[in-house]
Amino acid sequence: MNALSEIKSRFSSVLSEFVDDPTELLNMIRPAGDPKFGDYQANCAMPMGKRLGKSPREIAAELVNRVSLDDFCETVEIAGPGFINLTLKDDWIKQILTAALLDDRLAIAKVANPKTFVVDYSSPNVAKPMHVGHIRSTVIGDAISNVLRFVGHDAISDNHLGDWGTQFGMIIYGYKHFLDREAYRTAPVTELGRLYKHVRKLIDYHAAVAQLPEAEAKLAELKTTLAELVSREPSGDKKEDKQHNKQIKLLSDKIAEHAERIESLMDKVNEVKNTPDLKSQSERHSGINQAVLLETAALHEGDETNKKLWEEFLPYCRQDIQKMYERLGIKFDYELGESFYHEELANVVSDLEAKGFTKESDGAICVFLDHHDAPMIIQKRDGAYLYATTDLATIKYRIDHFNADACLYVVDHRQSEHFEKLFDVAKLWGYGDAELTHVAFGTVMGPDGKPYKTRSGDTVGLAGLLDEAESRALEITRNQNPDLPDQRHKEIATVIGIGGLKYADLSHNRGSDYEFNYDKMLALRGNTATYLQYSYARVQGILRKTEADVEAIRANPSAFEFELDIERQLAVKLIRFGEALDEVLVEYKPNFLCNYLFELSQLFAQFFDQCSVKDAGSESLKTSRLQLCVLTARTIKTGLGLLGIGVLDQM
Ligand code: ARG
Repeated sequence: MNALSEIKSRFSSVLSEFVDDPTELLNMIRPAGDPKFGDYQANCAMPMGKRLGKSPREIAAELVNRVSLDDFCETVEIAGPGFINLTLKDDWIKQILTAALLDDRLAIAKVANPKTFVVDYSSPNVAKPMHVGHIRSTVIGDAISNVLRFVGHDAISDNHLGDWGTQFGMIIYGYKHFLDREAYRTAPVTELGRLYKHVRKLIDYHAAVAQLPEAEAKLAELKTTLAELVSREPSGDKKEDKQHNKQIKLLSDKIAEHAERIESLMDKVNEVKNTPDLKSQSERHSGINQAVLLETAALHEGDETNKKLWEEFLPYCRQDIQKMYERLGIKFDYELGESFYHEELANVVSDLEAKGFTKESDGAICVFLDHHDAPMIIQKRDGAYLYATTDLATIKYRIDHFNADACLYVVDHRQSEHFEKLFDVAKLWGYGDAELTHVAFGTVMGPDGKPYKTRSGDTVGLAGLLDEAESRALEITRNQNPDLPDQRHKEIATVIGIGGLKYADLSHNRGSDYEFNYDKMLALRGNTATYLQYSYARVQGILRKTEADVEAIRANPSAFEFELDIERQLAVKLIRFGEALDEVLVEYKPNFLCNYLFELSQLFAQFFDQCSVKDAGSESLKTSRLQLCVLTARTIKTGLGLLGIGVLDQM
């Protein structure tokens, strides 16, 4: 049983007598910030007082009078201007703890109305190696799917691989013009990666050459405007001058940003210009940008050679990506990539056309939407379909085929506009009953506060990141436990290294950017996986020292005793695991589970300092404390497991 949702449901019927929709008021029932105010606090009397023109204390008294909580709350008190403080009955807490001991799911109730979710995450473009940006989608999506399943929903994970786009046009072009046959024979994955990068370089070169004149003109224009602004005499009016300085600052920032962009374009140009081989190739392949598009189009139109090459490349590309998933311990129910939908795309367009939702604009077929200036293009003038068209076919499939009640898209926030339009078109099209949610996330930043890049400006490869996290973890464990065999060190390093990396990502609010920092993610103190894994290992140490028989304890629980305050506090935290899971699912934010596990571990550390298990004084208190230890370890293990992170019996 989940105390918070039980309290809310009891209040819900009472509040409904006062307002039509009590949702907002129910959100004001929360865990108490300080144990001296009890375990939970309901603050809804304040806004109600205002609305109903009565004193909040009066309202609070009325609510307390009507709500029935006696069976599990010890006291219901009104405090201050009208706070309602609730304290759980110790007996009730103990009863829940006992149920949790006995139950493999820690007595977390399953949802009353299970739904089918399709969770779209990871979804890399397979023709290029995975990079740092793919961590977020992969670990956040995995954690959300795990939590959904744990609470009883049906969560179908689907890796929407980008296996049909321009990247394939690029490697096909590369294969036809730049292939090193011997390298392809011995290490095809590496050679395809090289071809991708090579073609990318030439494309970027030509694009940069084309963009530079305009970018430079723009920079000169901005500089002239700045010079004018700077030369203007101060007016003497304070407000006006402040405004003036602000404008200068804004413009200077813009100039710096622009200069940086030009620098990066110049880098791309110079790299090719200064390498004789590349330079002559760029001249011979001056039409490469267009040519790559043509190769892609030929593939889509069923050109035999290109189709064959695509079929040949795809398994290699997937092999490489699969290796990453193995290292991360990630599995998908489905991997229906973009190519899976390509035969449906014409139907999507003709169906939307037949229903009258499309308009032609400049030869392209578009869906115009109320809340967006630009329409969603679903077929280009040359007949090509787009990313959006595939996504529409995908929504149709997920809802028709999987009976999805909800489709979640764990994708970079930079695609927000795409998803807003996509969902609007899907609603028009008749798929409005399902929940469609873009679970967006921010960027992984480097130590300089900018998107994490290598020194040469490339995105940071995922394989290298995992290697580095593991090798740092290896060094830490070797130093900490010099006596362990090296094989064991390696196992520990994987759990700590990969776990630390995942947790660093998951513990940040997904909406924000976060800084990638190995030292922080592997620190033993603070809100890190290592700290939680350490707390877990500490419990295992206690269980070993006291030679506790965990199975027997679990099968035959004894009475719990709260001798010291901290024991009760730890107990209340333990029974709140289900609330943390609920919180994760409100906005699909795994960081709530991280926070919960961190706070639980902190309370456990206090318990560990204050409460001796071995010398508890009485056999019954010792058992009660052991039971709290067992529950703490199981909660941490289960919680970390849902986040895709492992634990160790000894660290
Ligand atoms: N492959 C895309 C990319 O790398 C992400 C796909 C996300 N999922 C989707 N259904 N659009 O940007």
